[in-house]
Amino acid sequence: MTVTHTATLVEDLAVVRQRTLDLVSHLATEDLERQIVPIMSPLVWDLGHIAAYEDLWLAHRHAGMALLRPDLAELYDAFETPRAVRGDLEILGHDDAVAYLVEVRARTLAALEITGADPVLHEMVLQHELQHTETMRQAMAIAGLLPPGEPRLPALSGAEEWLRVPAGAYALGAEDDGFAYDNERPRHAVDVAGFAIARRPVTNATWLRFVEGGGYVRREWWSSEGWAWKEEYDITHHASVAAGDADAPACHVSYFEAEALARWCGARLPTEAEWEKASERLDGVGLVWEWTASTFGGYPGFAAYPYREYSEVFFGEQYHVLRGGSWATHPRVATPTFRNWDLPERRQIFAGVRLARDPGDPT
Ligand code: AVJ
Ligand code: FE
Repeated sequence: MTVTHTATLVEDLAVVRQRTLDLVSHLATEDLERQIVPIMSPLVWDLGHIAAYEDLWLAHRHAGMALLRPDLAELYDAFETPRAVRGDLEILGHDDAVAYLVEVRARTLAALEITGADPVLHEMVLQHELQHTETMRQAMAIAGLLPPGEPRLPALSGAEEWLRVPAGAYALGAEDDGFAYDNERPRHAVDVAGFAIARRPVTNATWLRFVEGGGYVRREWWSSEGWAWKEEYDITHHASVAAGDADAPACHVSYFEAEALARWCGARLPTEAEWEKASERLDGVGLVWEWTASTFGGYPGFAAYPYREYSEVFFGEQYHVLRGGSWATHPRVATPTFRNWDLPERRQIFAGVRLARDPGDPT
């Protein structure tokens, strides 16, 4: 790594950290420390976890230093302590979590002086913090704690039309050089049949027409799993769909609902390959995550790196992939090859729908 690269990295780490602290600067300690809902961590957990992850990967694994706080490394390991129990743990309070962040950062910078930057690990730690600020915004949205001006979901200006993509091979995934997560590699050729994809995500106005047309009452558009989930939890459209601008993208929709809305439209969800192939030509990417029809799995030749728990342990039919990024995703994370994933019933993420269809289907 060059000296210039290290200087840029030090600066980027500082900017990302300031952005994290700014996000919570308007919150009372009580709101940072309480568990808002069982599926989300207390906000202060994310702060401690960001520090523990940085210490583990940069000071300990990269630079070979002893962990600053082995006890905290275990406490903040996402796999040792699932979200549902994080409200009951003896985690660091607000001030102590911020102090832990500061102490770890001092070690990171000291280690950087000695060992230089690792092009993968430093970028991974930086993006980890950026990803957690989106998770924190999800919890904040549920609690009504988002800062003024958020969510940033403006009315769409693009036309509601279909883009036709002819059949042809496509190189799916990230190239070999540069940073990417393990699940984006290896890049490989896939044959993609001709398809059409919507120029823009589905809007709140469309979603409300689905509601008025019996979207949550009639069985025919839903999968059996989706219908069972809807019935059990008495699901109807998310409050933000009715509250948002009519022309803004619908947000906080689950995969089950996305699938039902697509069928109601006589369309379907795009596959990951379709989405990525069309991504450079699409309007409104980066406002809401876009559910795909694809379940989360490794590309042919996948190799876990640098740890199995980032992606591999989630591979399987139960998770669906989302593409594109939301208003809360930093552009450094939201690349065209980035793959997000979640369970089909989840609505805390900033997710919406972009429709696709086969070329012969009527519009
Ligand atoms: C890629 C958003 C699904 O939040 O579970 C954060 C990102 N990985 N810490 C998640 C992540 C480890 C991950 N997602
Ligand atoms: Fe994490």
